[in-house]
Amino acid sequence: MATAILGMQWGDEGKGKITHLLAKDSDMVVRFNGGANAGHTVIDRGEKFGTHLLPTGVFYTASTSVLAAGMVIDLEVLREEFDTITRHLGEKPEILISEHAHLVLPYHKLMEDLEGSVKRIGTTRRGIGPAYRDRAARIGIRAVDLLSPKQLRDRLTQRIELLKRMWPSSPQFDSISAIELSERLVGLAQPFLSSIRDTALPIKKALQGDRRILFEGAQGALLDVNYGTYPYVTSSSTTFAGLGNAIGIPNPTIDKRIGVLKAYTTRVGEGPFPTQLSNDMEGKLQVRGGEFGVTTGRPRRCGWLDLPALRHATALNDPTGIAVTKLDVLSGMSEIKVCRAYQVGGKLYDRFPSSAEELGLCRPIYETFPGWKDDISQIKDYEQLPRAARTYLKWISDALGVPIYLVSIGPRPEETIQTDFFDRA
Ligand code: GDP
Ligand code: IMO
Ligand code: MG
Repeated sequence: MATAILGMQWGDEGKGKITHLLAKDSDMVVRFNGGANAGHTVIDRGEKFGTHLLPTGVFYTASTSVLAAGMVIDLEVLREEFDTITRHLGEKPEILISEHAHLVLPYHKLMEDLEGSVKRIGTTRRGIGPAYRDRAARIGIRAVDLLSPKQLRDRLTQRIELLKRMWPSSPQFDSISAIELSERLVGLAQPFLSSIRDTALPIKKALQGDRRILFEGAQGALLDVNYGTYPYVTSSSTTFAGLGNAIGIPNPTIDKRIGVLKAYTTRVGEGPFPTQLSNDMEGKLQVRGGEFGVTTGRPRRCGWLDLPALRHATALNDPTGIAVTKLDVLSGMSEIKVCRAYQVGGKLYDRFPSSAEELGLCRPIYETFPGWKDDISQIKDYEQLPRAARTYLKWISDALGVPIYLVSIGPRPEETIQTDFFDRA
């Protein structure tokens, strides 16, 4: 039985919480894209963690955590995260790292600074864009290189020479030494060296057998490098459409695909956001929802739900069900809005535009729903939710043509309502 957890918006939908919840009953959990730009929050046995690279299944030692080929891995972050979680668990979790995954190196972060993408796109400064660019330019360093110190040193020597040739007037690169860097990398990778392998094989085996396997997406469909709000996107494929390539298995059979969406919308960084709210209302959602980035601490921009954007995400992720998170944050609002279509210069428009400039011109046309006053955070059963909350959820589910599997009403695992659709799927 395979399940994929996929972001339906601009990231931070609550994928970490949902994956951690379902990982309890999983034999293997696989992260397949992105790098330490991701920040997934979980509350494990009462303690809060923000994970960046390890799949959130790592909190269950009976399950194997896989960092698949589509990822870019920063060994400094991985080592810190691994050590923290090992201390918390009191034993080492079992992890596997794809030989094909690329490494994020200190010069990638420097490049991001020099190119101005932190400001222009609002990137997380985790070296993600430059690392994926090196992969495409065939000058990247991969996990497999860690297994052969001479190969690692030779590749790094070539890469650093090129770096200095391409940035002749940037003194930041002058002091980088291939020998020192390769020694540092092998040192950091020491606990993981025996875990580096072709991960497509164990994933395939798990998919073919009767093991329970979870795939944890990072970021969200609207940040996909090809189909998101380009150029205000990340540098990897973030959708179900990209999963097969990222794990090295063509057309994997994944019966349950859970599209995770927040009951409203948030976005960190630059780029168009048609339903973004004005200061007062945005501030309210930021505070109620604790909308501050896990990776960078930046306040997240907040707005209402956006149906044309969600339809686009539905096409890319093909979810068999959705998980609606943070419904509790909307309690106490007198009314709740959803953008059902866009208006551009007096013309109605319900398609999600491919151009960020065009999306920037879109004005939302809203459907308004009554809110509810009651605190819903203790509710265990879907039918006990206030009628207004159920009306809102049903409208979203009908509009997307996808049933609701889960409703999340708080950050803790137990603050989750499972619907009959989840059990039936
Ligand atoms: P991810 O990147 O998709 O894993 O999401 P993040 O962890 O970056 O952001 C989600 C935030 O919302 C975290 O602080 C979670 O603890 C929190 N959260 C998740 N689900 C809920 C929920 O249903 N209600 C509330 N109030 N907080 C939630
Ligand atoms: P999770 O997995 C929210 C955003 C950045 C920026 C853009 C490009 O926690 O949902 P990058 O550093 O990737 O080159 O930045 O993408 N971004 C995210 N926003 N959640 C994330 O991950 C994100 N990962 C990247 O804010 O706008
Ligand atoms: Mg996040």
